[in-house]
Amino acid sequence: MSTHIGAQAGDIAPLVLMPGDPLRAKWIAQTFLEDARCYTEVRGMYGYTGTWRGHRVSVQGSGMGQPSLAIYANELFTEYDVQSVIRVGSCGAMTERLAVRDIVIGSGACTDSSMNRIRFDGLDYAPVADFGLLRAAHDAATAAALDEAVHVGLLYSSDSFYPARPEHAARMVEYGVLAVEMEASALYTLAAKFDRRALAICTVSDHLVTGEETTSQERERTFGAMVEIALSAGAGTVR
Ligand code: HPA
Repeated sequence: MSTHIGAQAGDIAPLVLMPGDPLRAKWIAQTFLEDARCYTEVRGMYGYTGTWRGHRVSVQGSGMGQPSLAIYANELFTEYDVQSVIRVGSCGAMTERLAVRDIVIGSGACTDSSMNRIRFDGLDYAPVADFGLLRAAHDAATAAALDEAVHVGLLYSSDSFYPARPEHAARMVEYGVLAVEMEASALYTLAAKFDRRALAICTVSDHLVTGEETTSQERERTFGAMVEIALSAGAGTVR
């Protein structure tokens, strides 16, 4: 058992899907995995392992924000030998190039967090997705021929859902950033540190420009499409 994950060595698959919401982890396990077994309930941050099309897959909640995700990602990489983590989450669209329900595959993640500033003594590190996972996810999304558009580009991993300085988001948009969420930067950084693979795929749940929001029913449907993309990309690239 690690400090925050109540699993034994071997309980967790080399491929982990990681939603922020632990109840989403439970929903993914019950909806997409066969023979899913819960391996941790510590702090209500559920984790499950099962199979998808014959591949062993785990689903682990991360909680919200980079500090929370970093706890789970660190323990998955260092104590359970996890090789690939795919975040499946939601994001806020920052530009009219995106519509609600679109899917954003994060090629890299900018941030306002101090986590990497501290880690790199003030130097600016560029956290990026694993290219193999990114390519496989894009291929899977294209093959799925969804009604929603699929974008590949930069995410903005903010520490604040309610920002004190909204103008920072506008500056990010000037430089091509597509959407805001709260976790990808830490995930990409930790995967690099431990020589593992990571990707963040997000559905647009709300639009910062138009103010539009998705209903919970719409969220579930597009979230499901995204989970299939993640499973297909992850299972096809296990090493
Ligand atoms: N901000 C941060 N994270 C998010 C948002 C947002 O507007 N929407 C979904 N995740």
